Amino acid sequence: MPDSILDKMRLDWDARALENARYYVNTEREDWTDEQFFQSGERTVAEEILTDMINICQGKNPAEMRVLEIGCGAGRVTRAIARQFGEVHAVDVSGEMIARATMALANQPNAHVYQNNGMDLSVVPTAPFDFAFSTIVFQHIPSREVIHNYVREVARLLRPGALFKFQVQGDNTLNTEADDTWLGVPFSDAQAVEMAEQCGFEPRHRHGVGEQYFWLWFFKK
Ligand SMILES: C[S@@+](CC[C@H](N)C(=O)[O-])C[C@H]1O[C@@H](n2cnc3c(N)ncnc32)[C@H](O)[C@@H]1O
Repeated sequence: MPDSILDKMRLDWDARALENARYYVNTEREDWTDEQFFQSGERTVAEEILTDMINICQGKNPAEMRVLEIGCGAGRVTRAIARQFGEVHAVDVSGEMIARATMALANQPNAHVYQNNGMDLSVVPTAPFDFAFSTIVFQHIPSREVIHNYVREVARLLRPGALFKFQVQGDNTLNTEADDTWLGVPFSDAQAVEMAEQCGFEPRHRHGVGEQYFWLWFFKK
């Protein structure tokens, strides 16, 4: 993995966090209040997680589940996950984003955030996780190799049978560039299936092929 792209992801996201973190996390508004920003995280969890608890919990009590999140940004979704599950551990490549997430999660002792190197989960405690989640993160990563590495890393940390629900860029008509940290590499349906097979997952459901929000339900083999 070239260090240069990892450095660029960190530097670009640090700069975005310093300019207007909440806007770059969720571009719906430039002037988020605390309440609006965290409410939008509650909405994401309501739409993508609470509607899907059968796949996510598989009979487990959410209060006893350990959740992993990739690309937590300013803690928008992490905070809402922490309100539903026993523990959440989240990584982000940007120290500036992690500083904001740490503040957002000050009253959530069951939420833990770590700055990572932009490609693996070696900073995360290795006890098995019951569910992993990532939204509006991989759509910004320009390297297919980095995304594959994350998916392999999630497989390393999930218990067998557990779900990794995440979103990638599905719009193959985009002209993406190798060092663009805003417009990430797109995945076709075949590329998503191939990634699951190479990284130890069964790609049981997919939604949004060809669209920006291409959601994948990967179950750990
Ligand atoms: C658009 S924000 C979304 C944040 C959060 N998922 C949310 O929905 O509120 C994208 C986040 O992904 C992080 N990110 C980008 N590339 C990353 C990488 N290679 N590894 C870890 N985090 C990354 C950025 O620092 C940023 O905080």
